Amino acid sequence: MAEKLWTKVDAYIDSQLGLADEVLAEALAANRKAGLPKIDVSPSQGALLHILVKMCGARRALEIGTLGGYSSIWIARALPSDGRLVTLEYSPLHGEVARANLARAGLADRVEVRIGKAAELLPQLAVEGAGDFDFVFIDADKPSNPVYLEWALRLSHPGTVIVVDNVIRDGEVADPRAKDENVKGSRAAFDFFAAHPGLVGTAVQTVGVKGYDGFLIGRVS
Ligand code: SAH
Ligand code: DHB
Ligand code: MG
Repeated sequence: MAEKLWTKVDAYIDSQLGLADEVLAEALAANRKAGLPKIDVSPSQGALLHILVKMCGARRALEIGTLGGYSSIWIARALPSDGRLVTLEYSPLHGEVARANLARAGLADRVEVRIGKAAELLPQLAVEGAGDFDFVFIDADKPSNPVYLEWALRLSHPGTVIVVDNVIRDGEVADPRAKDENVKGSRAAFDFFAAHPGLVGTAVQTVGVKGYDGFLIGRVS
């Protein structure tokens, strides 16, 4: 019942605020056609990422976990035309679908999709001096959240905004005896925030088409 209502309200938000344009709809259709899992952020969640990128005036953004580039489109559109998003994806198929979606969105010049294990690509970015990201979105394999947060901090500066997806997981995050590796990954992200007082933030619980979940949102001080 509640779930049905969330979905209905999400649809209302999307239509009232015009959150689903043709390019975004085409990207989602391409993802489904290619058989990618339906775990893209929702339109209202994508819009939240978009305004956060705008609010912190980001010029350089990093995403860990591209899938078909749906969230990448929301993030990249919030950057200035000479801004840059680097997005990391393990699956070559996902990366290929994302590149096509980003090209159709007119964002190919602004977004670099790198294929490989994020834990191996992140040190490369550091070596290249590609760091100093203003905005980081972490949305890949959940058990690696602490590793990604560590790199996000290393590649950031005071003022950088860091967002972690899927940290509430139907409320399972509050269960200290949780056995699920993904839930443990959410808890590890909270532990990371607790252990790094320079990362000031909070979690926002979300309901909607993706059920009951949420974002951890922090600012590097
Ligand atoms: N941010 C996307 C959804 C990402 S889904 C959106 O909202 O549109 C998670 C993605 O992380 C999947 O495409 C998966 O292949 C990728 N992934 C999983 N493990 C990874 C790893 N070790 N390194 C990089 N990407 C990984
Ligand atoms: C899953 C992963 C995600 O990134 C997400 O947003 C939702 C679900 C998953 O692996 O189940
Ligand atoms: Mg996610």
